Amino acid sequence: MSNQDWLERSRKAVWHPCTQMKWHEDFPLVPVQRAEGVWLYDFDGRRILDGLGSWWVNLFGHGHPRIVQALQAQLKELEHVMLAGFTHEPVVRLSERLSQATGQQLGHCFYGSDGASATEMALKMSAHYWRNCGMPEKNGFMALAGSYHGETLGALGVTDVPLFRAAYAELIRDSTILPSPDIRLGPSAAAKALEALELHLAVHHARTAALIIEPLVQAAAGMVFHTPEFLAQVYATCQRHRVHVIADEIAVGFGRTGTLFAHEQAGIVPDFLCLSKGITGGFLPLSVVMTSDDIYAAFYDDRLARGFLHSHSYSGNPLACRAALAVLDIFEQEAVIATNQSRQAQFEAMVAPLKLDPRIAHFRHRGMIWAFDVLSDATDFSRRFHRAALHQGLLLRPIGTTVYFMPPYTLTDAEFQFMVEAARQALDEVLPL
Ligand SMILES: Cc1ncc(COP(=O)(O)O)c(C=O)c1O
Repeated sequence: MSNQDWLERSRKAVWHPCTQMKWHEDFPLVPVQRAEGVWLYDFDGRRILDGLGSWWVNLFGHGHPRIVQALQAQLKELEHVMLAGFTHEPVVRLSERLSQATGQQLGHCFYGSDGASATEMALKMSAHYWRNCGMPEKNGFMALAGSYHGETLGALGVTDVPLFRAAYAELIRDSTILPSPDIRLGPSAAAKALEALELHLAVHHARTAALIIEPLVQAAAGMVFHTPEFLAQVYATCQRHRVHVIADEIAVGFGRTGTLFAHEQAGIVPDFLCLSKGITGGFLPLSVVMTSDDIYAAFYDDRLARGFLHSHSYSGNPLACRAALAVLDIFEQEAVIATNQSRQAQFEAMVAPLKLDPRIAHFRHRGMIWAFDVLSDATDFSRRFHRAALHQGLLLRPIGTTVYFMPPYTLTDAEFQFMVEAARQALDEVLPL
C-alpha cells in the first residue's frame, strides 16, 4: 500500500482531530508507516523530523528501547485489571515514585487516560473538597486569559480559546478569566493580572474553589510565558484567600521547562498537579491528578458520597504505568534534566540567526521550548507554514503566527540544526524576504 492509498482510506473512515476535514481535499494527510528517534517515516520511505514531539507527548524519541522493553515485559504479566477494588505493581510503584518526585508533598495519585480528564478530575476534586468541608457554594473556577486545559465540556469551562469555546458556548459553565501575564506585554501585565486576582478573590473567595494555571508557559495559547515570580505571587494570593491552585503541567511537566515540574521554579507546591502527555514518553494514554494529605483526608469517610466519584475503565492501566516507570528511570539514569541544561549553549548558538531575522519578533526560550512570532497578518499563515515545513521534512504546526519547537529531548545537534534550517526555509517559502 502506498501513501496515496492510506490517505484516501483515512479521509473516508477517520475523523481527524483539530481538523477541518474538507481542507484535506487539497492538503494531503501524512500517512506514517513507522517512526524511530525523532523521525517519522511515510510509506514511500520519506522521513519527517517530529519537531513538536507529536503534540508534546514524545520526550525521548519514537520507539525508545527502554520503554519498548518495559512494555514487552509488562505484556507478559498483566495488560489490564480494573482499579476499583484491585491494585497492581506498576500503579503502586508509579504512584510512589511520582509522590517522591514532589518531595512526598503530593502523595495521592488519581488516574485517567487523557489530559482533559485530568482537568475534569482536578476541578471536581477541588469543588468536592470544599463541599466535604461544609462549603458547597465554594465551586467557582478561575483561569488565565488564553488558557487551554482541554476540550471536554468541564475543561472548556476553564479554557479561554474562542475558537474552541464558541461552537459549544451554550453547553459550557463560565469561569472567571484573569488578564494575561504574558511577558511580551511587559511587567505591568503580570501586575494587572495579580491585581485582578486580588480584587476578584477579595469579593468572591467564598464562591471560588480553585484557580487553574499552566505553570510558566501557556502552551496552546501560543507559548505565552510568565515568570516564576508571578506564579509564586498567584499561589500566595490564592492561599491567603483559601482557594486551591491547580497546576496543569500536562504540557509543561517532565522537564519541558528545564525542571522536572515547572512549578518547582516558583518554589511552590500546588494543591493539585495534573500530568499527562510526556508521562509515558508518548507511548500510551495516561493522566494523573496528584494531591496532598489534607485534601485526600477530606474524602476519607464511611460514606461513599464523600469519596471522590470519578469512574474510568482504564484508570491506572498497568501498561501505561509501566511505560511511565520506564520514563522516570530514563530521567534518573540518564540525568535528562542536567543533560538538557548542558546542551543549552549549543542550542543557543544554532537558533541565534533566527533571532536576527527581520520577519521574527519575540524570540523566546525556556528549557526545551523555543518560540517566536512571525510578523505576518495572513490568517492562513499557520497552514501555509505547516505545509512548507513538511515540504522541508519537518513537522511543525504554528499556533496562529507563533512558530515553536518542542522536539524530543534526544535529538542530536545535527537534528537540531536541521530543524532550525528547515524552519527558516519554510519561512522563506511563506514569507520571502
Ligand atoms: C495544558 C494542557 N492541558 C490539557 C490538555 C488536554 O490534554 P488532552 O489533549 O490529552 O486531552 C492539553 C493538550 O494540549 C494541554 O496542553
